[in-house]
Amino acid sequence: VLASAAAHAQSDYPAKMITMIVPFSAGGPTDTVARLVAQSMSTTLKQQVIIENVGGAGGTIGAARVAKAAPDGYTIFLHHIGQSTAPALYRKLTYDAIDSFEPVGLITDVPMTFVTRKDFPAKDFKELLSYVKANAAKVTYANAGVGSASHLCGMLFMSAINTDLTTVPYKGTGPAMNDLLGGQVDFMCDQTTNTTSQIKGGKIKVYGVTTKTRVPSQPDVPTLNEAGLAGFEIAVWHGMYAPKGTPKPVIATLSGALQKALKDPNVKQRFADLGTEPVPENRATPDALRAHLKAEIDKWEPVIKKAGVFTD
Ligand code: MLT
Repeated sequence: VLASAAAHAQSDYPAKMITMIVPFSAGGPTDTVARLVAQSMSTTLKQQVIIENVGGAGGTIGAARVAKAAPDGYTIFLHHIGQSTAPALYRKLTYDAIDSFEPVGLITDVPMTFVTRKDFPAKDFKELLSYVKANAAKVTYANAGVGSASHLCGMLFMSAINTDLTTVPYKGTGPAMNDLLGGQVDFMCDQTTNTTSQIKGGKIKVYGVTTKTRVPSQPDVPTLNEAGLAGFEIAVWHGMYAPKGTPKPVIATLSGALQKALKDPNVKQRFADLGTEPVPENRATPDALRAHLKAEIDKWEPVIKKAGVFTD
């Protein structure tokens, strides 16, 4: 009886609303990607996919929530590169970044931008570098906590310039942006999905993009490589997951809806306006995410150990 009940539950999945956990504050870059994808998936699945923002500890609070959720397909997870850096940054994670989850698929790689408050006294990246080095004690750098993308970019930046800065942690770069706009914090490295509109509105200043090539939506912004930080490269990849044990047919339904979202003209247009694009079809599969997550965990572990950044 149990088996047939389980089979029945899977065959009419989704029979009710699905909760997508976003491990950072509403209004930030992860939330922006999630809401776009969730909107399209709601249409495909004919059930509401609602966002629940569970912030804190660089995304690991949200990850822990998903790892403990029922594996029935009604709790899913959207996280970024932070899923791969948390194992090296946090000694006491209550979940396994790979084994506590079922991968659904990769979504998009988002460039990052170095941005400052509007009246920051530097006209280009070279001047920013010399100002930051000369005033390290008083320059404040915003991030979304140890394990966030903004933290990772900042960690790489500080080790590249061999200068420690005062960091101000937030539950997401949505709230951090409010303080940057208000001038309460000096600068941050944040994703184009969050900075593009403020840059184009002249409310903050941009000094460079962290990708190998320039971002089509901001062609006049140099790469950090061009601007003097040779070899500096980071893009924020995003993946979707479900709790370990979520039945395969449910994962297949979610994967199909995600892949449809990545082809949705509205999603593609909004991504393009925000400086990014969906991953190609062959990377949007559960196996591609599984392989990418493992490779990224292996890649960042030595880098983080070398930088000596970790949290008990
Ligand atoms: C956010 O969504 O707030 C950002 O992803 C935070 C971060 O990772 O920097």
